[in-house]
Amino acid sequence: MRTSTSTTAAGAGPAGAAGGTGGRARRAPTRVVVDRLEAVPPGTTRIVEVGGRSIGVINDGGRLHALRNVCPHHGAPLCDGRVQGFMRPSAPHVYEYTGEDAEDRVLLCPWHGYKFRLSDGRSLADPETSRVRTYRVEVEDGDVVLYV
Ligand code: FES
Repeated sequence: MRTSTSTTAAGAGPAGAAGGTGGRARRAPTRVVVDRLEAVPPGTTRIVEVGGRSIGVINDGGRLHALRNVCPHHGAPLCDGRVQGFMRPSAPHVYEYTGEDAEDRVLLCPWHGYKFRLSDGRSLADPETSRVRTYRVEVEDGDVVLYV
């Protein structure tokens, strides 16, 4: 059973502006300590608020993912959805399920059921145009750290 909790990351780490050589300057990502890893066990989602953005940090069987908590279809709190495998496109009468242990799993939107890959946020139905923002998330010295 997947559980979800919320956190507001008021003490986000330092952010800085990275210089560029023309064009738009990219800022360095903000480092946010979400919690200790044991506080975000497999099968749970932690919702954090960072700079006005709601982001879901998902522990799927020990693999961490972070996605924007807004569905691009009609704005549902996407990370309240279920994580699951999915059927891969295949020949007629051939069924290829990614499985419960697969690296590439999806987040099912709780409102209308669109599926978004945890790995890159792309919609299964329309991967070229429908996508949820993903973020880098790491375990550092036992902390779950989000880079926004
Ligand atoms: S709001 Fe997510 S599928 Fe409609």
